[in-house]
Order: sequence, then structure tokens, then C-alpha cells
Amino acid sequence: MANRIDWAALKQAAMDARKLAYAPYSKFLVGAAVLTKAGNVYTGCNVENASFGLTICAERAAIINAVSSGEKEVQAIVVCAHPLAAPCGACRQFIVEFGTTIKVVSFDASAPGKSKQWTSDKLLPDRFTL
Ligand code: THU
Repeated sequence: MANRIDWAALKQAAMDARKLAYAPYSKFLVGAAVLTKAGNVYTGCNVENASFGLTICAERAAIINAVSSGEKEVQAIVVCAHPLAAPCGACRQFIVEFGTTIKVVSFDASAPGKSKQWTSDKLLPDRFTL
């Protein structure tokens, strides 16, 4: 496990994933990259549907990609959109499922220096748990 996070590589992975976004309805393209504790990167993009409520956000797509590849220990998630997007409520609940200290960074695809960061706990305090 690498203990130094290569944020530039994660940002690039999120940018690349964003190019694959399927967003014909909103035209709002989002990419995400998940860094697991093992040091691997999994990406996702938003996938919309004519039945709007079925839309999957990039963050959840990336996490599903990691988990379905056998990894559920998440270190960091980087999100890329323009303008910068804070993870939606559903994604916050989905992210915190895999750790309360996950570093979440969101940056602007058109101005990569513009970013916001949180921990998963900060994104969704007083959350539902079982
Ligand atoms: N979306 C994401 O993929 N992630 C976010 O953090 C915010 C919203 C997507 C869902 C939908 O495809 C589009 O952006 C507009 O809401």
C-alpha cells in the first residue's frame, strides 16, 4: 500500500473517465476515480437513463467498479466535473459505507486548480447506519 497519494494521477484518471460519461439528458459530464487502500485505481462516469431516476452518478459507478473487482477499502475519491460538483446525497451515503476517513476531492474539469475537499465523515455526518 502506497502511503503517498498521487493526486495528479487520480485527477487524470477522473478526467479520462469523464470522457466516457453517458449524459445525453443533462449534458453534465462527470468522472470519478477511486483509490483503494491496496493502491489500485478504479474509475467511473455518470450513466443516465431515459427514466431519469435510474441515473447512476460517477462516484457510485467508480465504487461499484472497485467493489466488483474485489476491493472495498477506499482511501480516496476524486471527482471531476464542470463546474465543480459536490457529491450528491445518495453518493455521500454510498461513499461513507466504505470508510469514514475517505478523502474526497472534487475539481473543475476546466480549471483543475479549482477544487474542494472533504472527508467522507464530513460529507455526511449523522448518517444512517445498520
Ligand atoms: N452527477 C454525478 O455523476 N455526480 C455528482 O456528484 C453530481 C451529479 C451526475 C448525475 C447526472 O447524470 C448529472 O450529473 C446531472 O445531475
